[in-house]
Amino acid sequence: MHGYSHQHDHHHHLGQAEVLDLDAVVHRARLDDIVELVAAALHRPPRTIVDIGSGTGTGTVALARRFVDAELIAVDNDPRMLERVRNAAAEAGAATRIRTMEADLDDRWPDVGDVDLIWAALSLHHIADPDRLFRSARSALTSGGLLAAVEMDGLPRFLPDDIGLGRPGLESRCHALASGNGWNEHPNWTEYLHRAGFEVLEERRVDIDLDPAPDGTVEYATLMLERMRTGIGDRLDPDDRATLDRLLDPGDPAALRHRRDLSVRGSRTVWTARPTPSPTMEGSER
Ligand SMILES: C[S@@+](CC[C@H](N)C(=O)[O-])C[C@H]1O[C@@H](n2cnc3c(N)ncnc32)[C@H](O)[C@@H]1O
Repeated sequence: MHGYSHQHDHHHHLGQAEVLDLDAVVHRARLDDIVELVAAALHRPPRTIVDIGSGTGTGTVALARRFVDAELIAVDNDPRMLERVRNAAAEAGAATRIRTMEADLDDRWPDVGDVDLIWAALSLHHIADPDRLFRSARSALTSGGLLAAVEMDGLPRFLPDDIGLGRPGLESRCHALASGNGWNEHPNWTEYLHRAGFEVLEERRVDIDLDPAPDGTVEYATLMLERMRTGIGDRLDPDDRATLDRLLDPGDPAALRHRRDLSVRGSRTVWTARPTPSPTMEGSER
């Protein structure tokens, strides 16, 4: 039993790192837009940045490129993710400015010192006690410091409604089942930020509609639909399951890898927030 769950976990995380890297390739342009939005909200270029729940370092590296004098710390509780961050940092020529720190954010706020920018992308919804995390984040920020959070509003879509195969709306039906599984759900962080003593400067929805599909889309869509097949496949009706299998079968002419009708659609929400001026926050803790 233990052996099984360990192995399962291992595979899940390998898949997760690949999904994150493909997500980075596909959304590169949008991520740069979001980083610009954050840059515009800062009073001065940040000297210290912490990326909480860094994953493979997508955000860390994008921030290092944009803020060329900043020192960055990527925090994650998964050492395999952090190894990827170090590789990505070296590839980007930023190895001397990017540190990694293995820490469980559910235990306590990591020992990163004072920071000018806290970046949390697609990670806050994993945190068990976000109120506590936001309070700690607030006390870690220097004056004039900023917190930037990003979340995905639902799963990305790759297929048109009618793919000329099976009943139209397959992807919507998959997503409906997946959201029942809790995938990707996140609350609106604005309320939480207020409670923790932040002023929310902006809560902005960034729409994503990449057509023609950028490089990496076939691989990204394939991984996502494979996960769908594993996660909710047995709850799809048999016709939908058969269609999904055809999309994933490399030998099938209708498979994702042979299609010309893929795009990437979705949206992300970005919050930028800074500590409210009042110095005494009840319940503030590190
Ligand atoms: C969906 S990934 C997002 C990665 C990255 N920020 C990005 O935008 O691509 C979420 C990351 O949060 C990390 N994470 C989840 N819970 C955590 C915790 N309690 N402490 C530290 N990291 C955590 C996971 O290991 C994973 O790498």
